[in-house]
Amino acid sequence: MRLPTPGTVLNQHRGESPNTMADIHVDLAGKVALITGGGSGIGRGFALAMARAGAGVAVLDIDGDAAQPVAAEVEALGQPAVAHRVDVTDAAAIQAAVNASIATLGHIDFVFANAGVLGPTDFLEISPIDWDGVLDVNVKGVAHTCRAVVPHLMERRAGRILITASYNGVRAGAHVIPYRVSKAAAIMYTRCLAMVMAPYDVTVNAICPGVTLTPMQLAYAEATAAERGIATAEYLADRAARIPMQHFTEISDLSGLALFLVSDSARLITGQAIAPDGGVMTSS
Ligand SMILES: NC(=O)c1ccc[n+]([C@@H]2O[C@H](COP(=O)([O-])OP(=O)(O)OC[C@H]3O[C@@H](n4cnc5c(N)ncnc54)[C@H](O)[C@@H]3O)[C@@H](O)[C@H]2O)c1
Repeated sequence: MRLPTPGTVLNQHRGESPNTMADIHVDLAGKVALITGGGSGIGRGFALAMARAGAGVAVLDIDGDAAQPVAAEVEALGQPAVAHRVDVTDAAAIQAAVNASIATLGHIDFVFANAGVLGPTDFLEISPIDWDGVLDVNVKGVAHTCRAVVPHLMERRAGRILITASYNGVRAGAHVIPYRVSKAAAIMYTRCLAMVMAPYDVTVNAICPGVTLTPMQLAYAEATAAERGIATAEYLADRAARIPMQHFTEISDLSGLALFLVSDSARLITGQAIAPDGGVMTSS
């Protein structure tokens, strides 16, 4: 029997991933989300999806110039917002930003520990400082962010924590090794924190994006294409072809999952690492 011809790659190189799908309907009126790395890419997508569903948003980013316009976009959607320039590797600074966000917005319901960095790609070029840089942001930064908000959520006996991990936290590979190790640690941290928070009715889950054309991913694609002496579009077409479903992940795939995970329908889903990635994490 002949199988039908697979579909063509629909969303090849289009620049930053657009929101092409309508949000799932979740009413978040009166809720507040705090998002690290909220000034760009996936974090910005989470911020706007939360705001469209009716939630206020605290946008935290090491790049204050990026956080401020996203807060303005949230306000333009009719929701309260605040922007803080903060480095998630600085535990005291993140605690201060969390306290200030609660003072301004009243409380926090949803935490997105999303800030992340990619780090070096080639094994022999990885220095001890590179290891520190990636693990400090992607592991300790996640832990500092969650630790800063956990007492507030425990007291309220409600809330959701969403940690942005990656398919790279499950799949082995010869490149971006500190990044893969950091995301594996983030997944285990998610599972452990889920056990801490379970008695408080707070769920903790990891969202593992697939290949998403954010500034981070595009910078990697451009560098890799240049290394291989090919055009970025050619590299991306090849990359997409190696995804089992042959689609890049779009911001709306991730924000849709986030909307579901903060909804009442997901109240018993905890300690999971869920990958809207077209099968990348499962494939070898
Ligand atoms: N884009 C992808 O294909 C992909 C795939 C899997 C996982 N991820 C993960 O998704 C998350 C978001 O990445 P993105 O693709 O939107 O990248 P991005 O570079 O567009 O956004 C990352 C944001 O994090 C901020 N940030 C970096 N270091 C920080 C720090 N120390 N403190 C506070 N903010 C900091 C940056 O300023 C930036 O605004 C990251 O954790 C990343 O590892 C991305």
